[in-house]
Amino acid sequence: MQKINTIGVLTSGGDAPGMNAAIRAVVRTGKYYGMKVMGIRKGYEGLIHGDIFEMTARDVSDIMHRGGTVLQTARSKDFKEIEGVRRGISTARYFEIEGIVVIGGDGSFRGARDLCSEGMPAVAIPATIDNDIACTEYTIGFDTAINTAKDAVDKIRDTASSHERCNIIKVMGRASGNIALNVGIATGAEAVLIPEMEVDFERDIVEPINAGHKRDKKHYIIIIAEGVSGCNDLDKRIEEHLGIETRTTILGYIQRGGSPTVMDRVYASQMGSYAVELLKDGVNNRIIGIRDSKIYEIDIFEGLNIPSTFREDLVSLSKILSI
Ligand code: F6P
Repeated sequence: MQKINTIGVLTSGGDAPGMNAAIRAVVRTGKYYGMKVMGIRKGYEGLIHGDIFEMTARDVSDIMHRGGTVLQTARSKDFKEIEGVRRGISTARYFEIEGIVVIGGDGSFRGARDLCSEGMPAVAIPATIDNDIACTEYTIGFDTAINTAKDAVDKIRDTASSHERCNIIKVMGRASGNIALNVGIATGAEAVLIPEMEVDFERDIVEPINAGHKRDKKHYIIIIAEGVSGCNDLDKRIEEHLGIETRTTILGYIQRGGSPTVMDRVYASQMGSYAVELLKDGVNNRIIGIRDSKIYEIDIFEGLNIPSTFREDLVSLSKILSI
């Protein structure tokens, strides 16, 4: 087996808390095995344009606890085209990079797959607050994001009780309801609306609120995932239909920032280190993931073909517990 001397690392797509811990693990593990580690700034954009520098073990000191990504990130349009991928690979070769660790979400994984198809070994580490990649039970950043959202909802609940209001809280997640479902259960929301299920105003909102009203509830919390369509003016509809004063809060980018939780730091450290071990051992074109709560790896083409599912068990649980 040919020894790998130089690897590259990049973060791509939406940033996620824990990306820095993954970068740190890649750099330090690479150094441990005597490799040269090249940091690629701004994701695939930096790969195309040669925004690449050598990283030392010291360059990743004091970054583990910080949100965001020290390598910065981007969503590259050019890398969606084959010319962009080829330009990226020739830049990587110019810097003598023989394998790349890609840290990001499913869009970034498609870029990693294209690198592999065009002959550049790559290993992908899942990092997105959405936790929406089918081949892994967990993506770095999810735990921090749901804890941030949980804290915000707990605070909103205080004011909701004081005014006996209904509060709608919109959380992130793109086309996935994972953040909404977990936050909804953790905060005892009356209703959780997710894009994977059609919303029925009467069944999903009026009934649970009426049930709570009968039990003398002092507030009503509705968590809605950003990917849910057809729910504009939900606050007005609730006021008109139920006569309950209603306010809406969009949590937005607060969910993407902040110091990563222990869980995110530990998974990121494990995955970052494992990615380098794989490249060192000549195993590439892989996605690292979590299956049955353990780190595992899967072929990148196979992994990207696994269809998405959602946690129907959590949907039922949230309904049972909100009566
Ligand atoms: O994928 C993470 C995420 O925060 C999604 O939840 C959200 O839909 C999207 O990124 C927002 O992306 P952008 O940073 O491009 O606005």
